[in-house]
Amino acid sequence: MAAVLAPSILSADLSDIRGLCQNLEQWGADAIHLDVMDGVFVPNFTFGISIVRAFRQATSLPLDVHLMMVHPEKYIDSFVAAGADILTVHYEVSPHLHRTLTRIRQAGARAGVALNPHTPVHALEASLQWADLVLLMSVSPGFGGQAFIPETFEKIRRLRQLAEQKHLDPIIAVDGGVGPHNAEALTQAGARLLVVGNAIFKAEQPAAVVQQLKQSMQR
Ligand code: DX5
Ligand code: ZN
Repeated sequence: MAAVLAPSILSADLSDIRGLCQNLEQWGADAIHLDVMDGVFVPNFTFGISIVRAFRQATSLPLDVHLMMVHPEKYIDSFVAAGADILTVHYEVSPHLHRTLTRIRQAGARAGVALNPHTPVHALEASLQWADLVLLMSVSPGFGGQAFIPETFEKIRRLRQLAEQKHLDPIIAVDGGVGPHNAEALTQAGARLLVVGNAIFKAEQPAAVVQQLKQSMQR
């Protein structure tokens, strides 16, 4: 099965969300990745619930919402009601991960857990069964356009091992510094969802980059 391409609209022009969604659909995106940042967990602000709702009204593509915020558990129901299909919280701000992931599932979305580059995969040893998706950050979160951290490949390998040991099959997602130069290798390593921001939105021909990525992501 081909991996899923989820463009991150962090560096896109948000003045016309409907037009942006139409473009993404035409180009062949499989989902849309929305980066919520609170200025506390990460040193940057983006947007919140109302923008997720605006995307929901503008597209039927799945919305993959990445919460880079403290206390994400307070807003689970609001983000799911706004239209999140996948809701991902960070391991580093989740002392009650079982409760948080379970609540996301109960609210009707797929539950994701994100690991910062310095958080080892074995941190999920006792919790992997509660996650539908694991988002491996391949940059320090907060900004688009950063360089891919190559140790991510080893983390994919370790995550696959852990999942196999436990007879689980979470979606392995990779976020940060992904583009045509590494999409094929990441897919072959076992990534099943790739988040791509700048490589698409800073390109002269974004449609061509999406096509190229989708070809590299066939397995
Ligand atoms: C970074 C965000 C990413 C970002 C990726 O903190 O989580 O989703 O948009 O952007 P690129 O692909 O430019 O690294
Ligand atoms: Zn993200």
